[in-house]
Formats: sequence, structure tokens, C-alpha cells
Amino acid sequence: LVLVVDFGAQYAQLIARRVREARVYSEIVPHTMPVEEMLARNPKAIVLSGGPSSVYEEGAPSIDTGLFTAGTPVFGMCYGFQLMAQGLGGEVAHSGVREYGRTPVSVTAPGTLLADIPETHNVWMSHGDSVARAPEGFDVLASTSGTPVAAFEDVGRGLAGVQWHPEVLHTEHGQEVLEHFLHDIAGCRQTWTMLNIVEEQVEAIREQIGDGRAICALSGGVDSAVAAAIVQRAIGDRLTCVYVDHGMMRLGETEQVRSDFEAVFDTLDVVDAADQFLGALEGVHDPEEKRKIIGREFIRTFEAAEARVFGDVEGGATAYLVQGTLYPDVVESGGGAGTSNIKSHHNVGGLPDDLQFELVEPLRTLFKDEVRLVGEQLGLPSTMVWRQPFPGPGLGIRIIGEVTRERLDVLRQADAIAREELTRAGLDRDIWQMPVVLLADVRSVGVQGDGRTYGHPVVIRPVTSEDAMTADWARLPYDVLERISTRITNEVAEVNRVTLDVTSKPPGTIEWE
Ligand code: XMP
Repeated sequence: LVLVVDFGAQYAQLIARRVREARVYSEIVPHTMPVEEMLARNPKAIVLSGGPSSVYEEGAPSIDTGLFTAGTPVFGMCYGFQLMAQGLGGEVAHSGVREYGRTPVSVTAPGTLLADIPETHNVWMSHGDSVARAPEGFDVLASTSGTPVAAFEDVGRGLAGVQWHPEVLHTEHGQEVLEHFLHDIAGCRQTWTMLNIVEEQVEAIREQIGDGRAICALSGGVDSAVAAAIVQRAIGDRLTCVYVDHGMMRLGETEQVRSDFEAVFDTLDVVDAADQFLGALEGVHDPEEKRKIIGREFIRTFEAAEARVFGDVEGGATAYLVQGTLYPDVVESGGGAGTSNIKSHHNVGGLPDDLQFELVEPLRTLFKDEVRLVGEQLGLPSTMVWRQPFPGPGLGIRIIGEVTRERLDVLRQADAIAREELTRAGLDRDIWQMPVVLLADVRSVGVQGDGRTYGHPVVIRPVTSEDAMTADWARLPYDVLERISTRITNEVAEVNRVTLDVTSKPPGTIEWE
């Protein structure tokens, strides 16, 4: 275990991911956690992240300097580097020189940390203060034009640091530097592999569930699929997977999900609930109302499935719900390990009143890219593992206006063409998502053959993103856009205009509703 101490920069999650890419398990802890508590977790090493503050600022986050003398290896980056320098008697100064962005660094004495790294290379900086003098016992390894001490180490004590951000993509050789610290200075063993993750999780789930039964709602997406696959490996056919077809899936999607899942899962309960959902959505235009209705109907359908699965379970027993919660959700909601008990709020007919629900969250410690790798490790089909995100409410929030079967059919055809062309161009993994949106209440005049048409526009919204929190509109090649446009207007009779959404997020969201 390596602890990444978060000093309030946006980089802590990225650092934790990079540590894991070095095959060492890492977790993020807040800088407010007392040092004894960190050490009590017995970490093999501690990494101090960057942060937005100056070490001299009033109220700047600091850390008990006992951390540096406890014998546990510590690596400081940027702000963490300055804290280490200051904490051990070095000198941090307002140099007046600020370095932001790409900065050339000169390696003057590589030592262990910068071994085999080119003498000059570009790194990503973001700092106002600089370390003017390294603490006693440290070797200075590198400098920049504005910073005499840009990297240092004291291998004997397992301490090292760099002024730059080795975790960001724009820093050359950043991962190598981090690995030199983790593997060569801190002596961390490289045990964080996907196989180990699966084995550990399977073991933990067996312990948690015992001989109980679990249910998992599959959405068709990678997270719920991988979570379910792990749980199935642990408890076999005592897991029931439920997939709700609400009638707003894309063309061929339910069949795809069914065949993908049947290859992997013993039990897949496909519930056809299209009539129920579409009936409830009749006459509804407002986006939030649509979402609420879809959410409510989903819960109803799922509760009915639970009643089927747990109906004959004795009162007082525990029922388990599998969820694909990821590590970023855990960190963002304040952290905390272990499972949470949700009360038996599911007051469904057919279920004993005192049946308790407990969550099983096998992905709680994983990042999205790790989930995909685990999925591959488990042998899930790549259509499932690399599927682009698709919102739970499905095409229902991509029809601007009332959702009807006819409109869904139109949108399904247009969407299928757009996806097919994107895949044919080999771009489906580069593009995060490409919603196709039907402006169902808007009409536009066109001309086709000799006739005037009065059809609907669709909007295509290709975006690039890392986490859906922010996104940019994707610069698709014109010839791909042209093929999409020509085919949609030719092949989908009701659509006579294709438009491209060139809005980033923010200010737009990815979906239109
Ligand atoms: P927005 O539109 O907020 O979308 O930029 C961000 C990401 O979330 C997906 N999304 C949803 N996913 N249920 C989901 O499971 C929802 O209600 C929902 N709404 C948006 C969206 O597709 C994008 O990936």
C-alpha cells in the first residue's frame, strides 16, 4: 500500500492511478489525516501531492514533520517537495520566478531517482515558490533556469522529491521517475496486477456474502458487467443478473447485451418493460420529469425482480445488491472503506419486512481504466469492456420533446448509422461518446429529389473526455461527418437535416437533456 496525501490539488487521483500503473496499490488520504494514522496503515511509501498553496501562506496545508523521520519512504511532488524541503531544514523562497507549463529541466546528477533519464527534458511545472537550498544529507539532482533545486533525494532515508508534476501526461519520463522512487528507493513490490485484484475481490466477496444470495442490475455498461462477473466468480448461480429493457435502448442493443452476457453469466433475467416505461412517459416533455419517471419505473421493475429472487428468503436474512461503484465516486463522496448498509426501504410486496439489504461493491477501489483491464482479465467480450458510456435513461433523453415509439424508431436508425460510420472510421475508441439527438418538436424544410420535405433535424454530438466531468467537442474528419450526414438524410425518411454540436462541457453538458 502506498498512500497519496492529497493537498487539495486536482492531481491526487491522477497520482494514485500512476502509482497503480507502476503495479503498486495506492489509496488517497486527505492531508488532514494525522501522521500516526497514516503510519498505522503500514504503508510501504507515502507520496505527497502538489497543492494550490504557497508553504508560507497563512493557513497553508502542512504536515507533521515526524512523517519524514518515521522511516517510511516519502516522495514529494511540487508542493509536497517544498514541504519536505522546509520540514527537514532546507529553504523555500519566493524566488520571484514563476514557472508554469512546459519547462526544460537539466539533470545535473541523476542519482537513483533520475537514473537513465535524458540530461535535458521537458517537464510540467506549476509553482511560484522554489526550493533555494536542499536539506542536509540530500543530493540535488536537477535544476531549471528558475529553480536551482528542482529534484533531490536522500536514498539512505528513502526520501526524494521533484519540483515538477511527474504524474501529468506532458511531463516527459514522469512515470519512470515515479517508478524509480517506488521500486528502487522505496522497494515496493509490483503486486498490483489484474489477476491479483480479481482473486482478492473474489475472496472478500465470498466472505461477505457467505451462502446468501445477491442480485445485480446490469445496464449494459462495463462497470455493472465487471462487478457482476466478479461476484459470479465468487458465488456462482446465487447471483441473479437483471437487465431491464425500457424500450429506449439503441438498435440491436438488448440482443447484443443478451448475447454478450449469456456468454459469461449463468443467469440473466431480461425484463421487457417497454410498455410500462413508454406508457408512463406519454405526454411528458420536461427533461427532469422524464428522468424522474424513468428512475421511478426502473425502481419498480427492479423491486419486482428482487421479490422474485428473494421472495422465499426468510425474514431477518440479508439480501445483497451488487453495485459498480468506482473509486473516484468513493473519494469524491468523502471516502471511507468497507460496505454500507442500506436499510430495507424496499418495502415491496413479497419480501419479508425485515429483510436487510447490503451493498456489494467489488470495484470500490478501482479506476475506470482498471475496471476495463479486470474485465479483459475475466474474459468479458471486448464489445462490453470497451463500450462507450450510455446514459441509464437511454434514448429517452435524446429525444427533445415527448418520447414515442415512432420517434424512438427514427432516432434508433439515425444513431445506428452514426455509430456504424464512427466504427468504420476506426474512431470509436478515441471518441468518448457521440450522442445523436432528435429535435422532435422542430421541423425544417428541405428538398429531396424534386420534392419539398418537412422533416426533423438531428444533432450529432461527438465528444472527447477523460471522465465526463469536462468534455470537448471532437474534431471528426469532414469525410466521416459527410458520410454520416449523407446516409442519415438518405436512409432515415423523417430526417432531412444533420447538424453538428460544437459546444464543449462546460458550458454545455454531453447529453442535451
Ligand atoms: P452530462 O450530460 O451530464 O453527462 O454531461 C455526463 C455523462 O453521464 C451520462 N449520463 C447519464 N448516465 N444516467 C446515467 O447512467 C443518467 O441519467 C445520465 N445522464 C447523463 C452521459 O451519457 C455522459 O456520459
